[in-house]
Amino acid sequence: MQLFVSCACHMQVSMPNITIDDKVFSLYLPAEKIQHRVETMANMLNADLKGHDPVFIGVLNGAFMFAADLLKRIHGHVQVSFVKVASYRGTSSGLDVKRLIGLNEVLKGKTVVILEDIIDTGKTIEDILYQIKGFRPVEIRTATLLLKKDAYKSGIHIDYIGFEIPDRFVIGYGLDYNGYGRNLRNVYVLEDLKV
Ligand code: IMP
Ligand code: MG
Repeated sequence: MQLFVSCACHMQVSMPNITIDDKVFSLYLPAEKIQHRVETMANMLNADLKGHDPVFIGVLNGAFMFAADLLKRIHGHVQVSFVKVASYRGTSSGLDVKRLIGLNEVLKGKTVVILEDIIDTGKTIEDILYQIKGFRPVEIRTATLLLKKDAYKSGIHIDYIGFEIPDRFVIGYGLDYNGYGRNLRNVYVLEDLKV
């Protein structure tokens, strides 16, 4: 028997598949596996950040769940903030310009740890790093739950990686398709279209 939980038509859940609009996603990383890995990442950060004055910066919307689960396991005196990356078309260049919004903390002299949900080509994290550097922290570290290794084009070293995944579209645990799926505890992968 399949249990369907459906809403106004956008999302149907039949474990272990999720349907959002016209797309079917299958279970890829179960919640327990994610939690275990997040715990390991927190342990690494706790060890590495001893004696530092860290500010954790989560990148919204996607990183909210990863940041919450990770930060619950971070010990000691730390600051936490969240930013959004706003895209707009540069007036002079005509190119897409990304601007960080929502950052109120003083970063000068701090160790910044950027928390991302997923890194794909690396363009977004490059833009974020460039702008964070402008606030003159002493050090910037990067942590991401997921890295699409084969799609990654940037030379920037990512310090903490939860899972390296293939170049496939995923949802859940903060990640969305058309705005849906962020609340799911597991990560799901878009099933290949059968032609
Ligand atoms: P990048 O700039 O190519 O590294 O892309 C990073 C951003 O693209 C992420 O912060 C996500 O918003 C989005 N993204 C990339 N891959 C996925 C995916 O598989 N599912 C959902 N969002 C994704
Ligand atoms: Mg993101």
